[in-house]
This record gives sequence, C-alpha cells and structure tokens, in this order.
Amino acid sequence: MSSTEQTLSIIKPDAVERNLDREIKEIFNTNGFKIFKEKKIQITKAEAEQFYKVHETKPFYNDLCDYLSSGPIVVMILEKENAVLANRELMGATNPKDAKEGTIRKKFGISIDKNSVHGSDSVENAKIEINFFFKD
Ligand code: CDP
Ligand code: MG
Repeated sequence: MSSTEQTLSIIKPDAVERNLDREIKEIFNTNGFKIFKEKKIQITKAEAEQFYKVHETKPFYNDLCDYLSSGPIVVMILEKENAVLANRELMGATNPKDAKEGTIRKKFGISIDKNSVHGSDSVENAKIEINFFFKD
C-alpha cells in the first residue's frame, strides 16, 4: 500500500528575493509534488528562533534566525508518496557546493546559509513544522 505523505518546504529569502519562487514551485510540480497549501509571509526573529529551536546550540543559530526573518519566504505543504525523503533528495545537500547536479540547492543555492530552500527531515518533524505554519 502506498500512501501520500506531507512535508514542509520553505523557499528562503535569498530565492524569493531573486524571484525564483515560481521556478522552484515548477520544479516541485514537475517532480510529482502537489502543493497542497502555500503562503508568502515574513516571520519575526522570535518565530525563526522557535522554528529552528533544534539548532539553538549551534554557532550559526543567531545568523540563521536573522536570515530567515530578513525577508519574505514562501511556505508550502508538499504532498507526494514518501514526500519527506523525496523532497530532501530534490533539495540536495545543505551546502550547495556538495549538492548533486539536478538538485534545487545545486541550481540556485548561493552558500551554506543562503541555500534557497528548507525541507523537513523526518515525518515527525514535518508534522511539527506544518503545524507551526498552518495551524489555522
Ligand atoms: O537545511 P538542512 O536540513 O539541510 O540543514 P540543517 O543542518 O538542518 O541546518 C539548517 C540550516 O542552517 C541550513 O539549511 C543552513 O541554512 C543553515 N546552516 C548554516 O548556516 N551553517 C551551517 N554550518 C549549517 C547550516
Ligand atoms: Mg534541517
């Protein structure tokens, strides 16, 4: 039995700023993802800190939260079979330099911090992240 899964995707400020959101959404569609819900928003630093709380002890945490709250982002619920893993594969490695050909981060990522997209890393975290942005 196959089942549709949901994951949370974010088009980060560096990509929205370069007007890449339409092109990135097209890549999701081409790769069989359905964009179930989406919204363009700007979050506060406090919200970014909550979203990335898992990284609070990391040296890059403060800059990361400044960055995610620095401009508009597009948050989406993506649906597909095995959506969490499929999206991680399509995104590519965290550092665009290490990302494989054909991945979103390889194509659009600028640097390890400005890597254009976020994707949930597990089904459990996908539920938490979807609830964070789409609880209404
Ligand atoms: O986003 P992903 O799950 O691939 O990576 P992560 O390890 O969960 O890190 C979250 C985000 O922190 C990354 O996407 C980067 O934007 C940022 N980061 C950074 O700025 N410097 C690092 N050394 C590692 C991550
Ligand atoms: Mg992560």
